Amino acid sequence: RVLILDFGSQYTQLIARRVREIGVYSEILPYDVGDEHIRDFGASGIILSGGPESVALEDSPRIPPVVFDLGIPVLGICYGMQAMAMHFGGRVSASDEKEFGYAEVTLDQPSQLFRGIEDRVDGNGRGVLEVWMSHGDKVTELPEGFVTTCTTASAPIAGMANDQAHLYGLQFHPEVTHTQQGRRLLERFVLEICGCEASWTTEAIIEDQIARVREQVGDDTVLLGLSGGVDSSVVAALLHQAIGDQLLCIFVDTGLLRYREGDEVMAIFAEHLGVRVERVNARDQFMDALAGVSDPEEKRKIIGREFIRVFEAAAKRHQEASWLAQGTIYPDVIESAGAKTGKAKVIKSHHNVGGLPEDMNLKLVEPLRELFKDEVRRIGVELGLPAELVMRHPFPGPGLGVRILGEVRPEYVEPLQKADHIFISELRQAGLYDKVSQAFAVFLPVKSVGVVGDARRYEYVIALRAVETIDFMTARWAYLDHEFLDHVARRIINEITGVSRVVYDISGKPPATIEWE
Ligand code: XMP
Repeated sequence: RVLILDFGSQYTQLIARRVREIGVYSEILPYDVGDEHIRDFGASGIILSGGPESVALEDSPRIPPVVFDLGIPVLGICYGMQAMAMHFGGRVSASDEKEFGYAEVTLDQPSQLFRGIEDRVDGNGRGVLEVWMSHGDKVTELPEGFVTTCTTASAPIAGMANDQAHLYGLQFHPEVTHTQQGRRLLERFVLEICGCEASWTTEAIIEDQIARVREQVGDDTVLLGLSGGVDSSVVAALLHQAIGDQLLCIFVDTGLLRYREGDEVMAIFAEHLGVRVERVNARDQFMDALAGVSDPEEKRKIIGREFIRVFEAAAKRHQEASWLAQGTIYPDVIESAGAKTGKAKVIKSHHNVGGLPEDMNLKLVEPLRELFKDEVRRIGVELGLPAELVMRHPFPGPGLGVRILGEVRPEYVEPLQKADHIFISELRQAGLYDKVSQAFAVFLPVKSVGVVGDARRYEYVIALRAVETIDFMTARWAYLDHEFLDHVARRIINEITGVSRVVYDISGKPPATIEWE
C-alpha cells in the first residue's frame, strides 16, 4: 500500500485514484498527521503531494523526518519535490515567473524512474516527455546524492533522483492525464520501485469488504436507507451479498423521485436481486408538509425532516436492527475534518437531506468508506446492478422538490417527471447521456401562451438544463445540438398536457448554480 501525504494540492485525490487504478491501495493523510500514523500505515512507498504554499518561506509545511527514517521509496511531486530538496540541503527559489500548463521536459541523467519512458527523442538523441506543469517556485540547487533527471528551459531541475536511496522528485504532475506518460511513471514508482503488487482489483475489494462486513455485524440485522442513488444502491448490493436477509432496506418514496423510479427500484432490488426492501409510500405526507412553502432552503429542511420521520418510524417497526448502513464514500471522508486524523467518523446525511439523528442508537456500517466513486461504480456493475443505474447522473436528495420552483404542488410533479424522462431518454438514445455530467428538467410555475393545433394554450414552462463539469463546483452548459433540442422540445410540448413552452438554460456555474434552487 502507498501512503500519500497531502500538502494541500488540488490534485491530491487524483494521485490516490491513479495509484488505485494501477491496482495498489492508497490512502491520503495530511502531512502533519503525526509520526505514529505514518509509521502505522505500513506503506511500501510514500508520495508527497503538491501544495499551494512556498517552500522558500520559513513557516511553510515541511516533510516530517519519519518519512525518510522508514527507508522506503519516496516520490515528491511539485511542492513535495521542493520540500524534499530543502529537507536534504538543496535550495529552492521563489520566483514570480510561473509556469502553468503544457510543457516539454528533456531527460537528463538516467534514473530508474524514467528508464525507457519517453514520448519521443529530440535532435540530440535525448528523450522528451510532454507533461503538465504548475509551479512558481523551483529547485535551483540539488541536495547531495541527487542527480537531475529532467529539465525544461524555465526549470533546469524539473526532476531529481537519488536512485540508491529510492528518492525521487518531479516538478510536473504525473497524476494528470495531460502528462502523457504519467501513468507509466506512477506504475514504475509504485510497482517496481516500491515493489507493490497490483492486487487492488474490483473482485478483491468486494471479497475484502464482504469479509469485513460479516465480521463486523455478525448475525445482527442491518438497516439501510435505499434511495436509488449510486452509493446506497451499491451498499445494498454489497450487503446483500455479504449478509443476505440480515439486510433490510427501507425505500422511502417521497413522491419527488424521477419518472417511475419507485417501481424501478423495487424491480431491481426486490424482484431481480432478491434484496429485502420495504417500500414506504409517503408521497402525501411530503406533499402536505410542503404545501404553501416556496423558499428553497425551507423546502430542503422540510423534506429532510419528513424523511427522517418516515425512516425513524420504519426503524421503530424493526427493533431487531442494531446497525445502520450508509453509503459514505472516500471523498466524503477526505473532504470532512475526519481526514485530519484519519479516525473521526463522518455521518453522511441521506444525500444531505438533513442527516439521521444520533439517538437512533444504531451502530454504523460504511462499506464504501475507503472507495472512490469510480471504484464504487465498478463494484456495482460487478455485483450485477444495471449499468444504467450505476452510471447515473447525480440526483439531489430533495429530488424534484427543488426542481419545481417555488411551492411544490402535486399537479406539477407528473408533467415534470414526464418532461425529464423525455429529455433523459432522448439524451441516451442520441448517445449524449454520458457526454454530459448532469441533465434534467425544471418546472417553472409561470404560464405562457402557445398554440397547439388550432387551439390557444396558456400553460406552464419547462426548462432543460445540461452541464459539463468535473467536480460540480464549476460547470459550463452543454452545447447540445439544436436539432436535438428542437426534437426534445417538440416532444415535451406535444406529449405533456400542461406545458406550452420549453427553454434551454445557458447559464454557467458560476454565477448560476447547477440546480435552479
Ligand atoms: P448546485 O446547484 O449547488 O449543485 O450547483 C451542485 C451539485 O449538487 C447537487 N445538489 C444537491 N444534492 N442535496 C443533494 O444531495 C441538495 O440539496 C442539493 N442541491 C444541489 C446538484 O444536483 C449538483 O449535482
